[in-house]
Amino acid sequence: MSSPKESSKKLWGGRFSKATDARTEAFTESISYDWVLYRHDIAGSMAHATMLADVGLITKQDKDRILKGLGEIADEIEKGVFKFRSDLEDIHMNIEKALEEKIGETAGKLHTARSRNDQIALDERLWLREEIDEIRQKIALVQAALVDMADRYVDDVMPGYTHLQRAQPVTIGHYLLSFVEMFARDSSRFADCRKRANLLPLGACALAGTSLPIDRALVAKLLNFDGVTANSMDTTADRDYLLEFAFSMTASALHLSRLAEDFVLMTTTEFNFINIDDAFCTGSSIMPQKKNPDVLELIRGKTGRSVALLSHLITLTKGMPLAYNRDFQEDKEILFSTTKQFKSCLSILEPMLRAVTFKTERLLEACEWGYMDATVLAEYLVRKGIPFRQAHHVVGSLVKLAESRGCQLKDLRTDELRAAHSFLTEEARSVLGPEKAILMYASAGSPNPKFVRKEIESWKVRLRDEGAIPGKKKRK
Ligand code: ARG
Repeated sequence: MSSPKESSKKLWGGRFSKATDARTEAFTESISYDWVLYRHDIAGSMAHATMLADVGLITKQDKDRILKGLGEIADEIEKGVFKFRSDLEDIHMNIEKALEEKIGETAGKLHTARSRNDQIALDERLWLREEIDEIRQKIALVQAALVDMADRYVDDVMPGYTHLQRAQPVTIGHYLLSFVEMFARDSSRFADCRKRANLLPLGACALAGTSLPIDRALVAKLLNFDGVTANSMDTTADRDYLLEFAFSMTASALHLSRLAEDFVLMTTTEFNFINIDDAFCTGSSIMPQKKNPDVLELIRGKTGRSVALLSHLITLTKGMPLAYNRDFQEDKEILFSTTKQFKSCLSILEPMLRAVTFKTERLLEACEWGYMDATVLAEYLVRKGIPFRQAHHVVGSLVKLAESRGCQLKDLRTDELRAAHSFLTEEARSVLGPEKAILMYASAGSPNPKFVRKEIESWKVRLRDEGAIPGKKKRK
């Protein structure tokens, strides 16, 4: 055999009579970032080769040689001794070429009934499944830290705000559980995304499947997919799984950001509600007195990356004609970097939360001012049969009076209360003051410690089941 021309050294070089311009190679390569898919690519190839042998498209010896070669390549990459080549474009061709160098011609049988178009969709779905599992575990750890903290502060009061104005007293435990709820929705969105992503795309080939007798169900089973995708064109043109993932990440990043913003506010001298351990703060290079909540600010700041990914993926897919187009290659670099950053936010947040203390005395004192017990006082009148609108008015006039006197509602004299409404007897004082007000809340989902305690217990069971809290699991 004559030595191959420069042009045909490419795995796709047969129809080319000229070598690729180096600038084209540099522009089109993706190996510099898609190499992270090597484990997924190799796992996919192993399952594919196993199936090819099972249906008789390759021999058992071919399969054994392919699996052995792929195993060695995985080891070399793992050890960091594998040489990735940008002239081989992407992870798929780097691995296939390395296999050819190891086992010769047999390597050429691996790509039977397969295209890089379904191969990349497979790699991405395998990658996504792992990332989602890891993210959900990290979210559960953050939730566990919040639940522990909620437990510690279940009876302590703090001001609840609307319009950033003091509104009604709440319990710290209740406040913290609000974030646990947000993260639970995030986790279920990720799980939902995983469900739809968990179908095998391999076998769609370039766009039209294959004339060869492959067994897609077998590959799906080998790779733990719930089934196979239905339409070969849709399969190779579909990136919904990434869009859903990017949205899930964005929603979760927004929750992280809102938590971060609240905690930054609460550390200020103006609020002075919490303290963050020195280990999770940084200083200023010029102002010696400074202790800054940089971890929280970076969590807040990194949100933009998820939003950017989502908007990038939407733009990328918007005008794309069916089926595969090379534009899709652009989905990966920002996907990988954003996901890494998002996970790092979750990783740091858990220990940081455990290093936060609430200044309970100061929070109680903050609750004394702002007439935050006005609503429960109005509700006291409602329980006596007064229409709410009238009760609202009566209490409003008392707030006005107290404000003019510079005192709290509970400091008003009984005759002053009575003058506003005859039902406001001495007994009405039983609802006044933040600590009494929180015990008055009677609706499910309110900050009354009796409800919060139940919520904490049910979260502990759930998080124990998810392995985020040590202890015996309730259900398997
Ligand atoms: N690197 C490519 C990507 O990320 C793999 C698929 C290439 N397919 C092709 N026909 N050029 O999408």
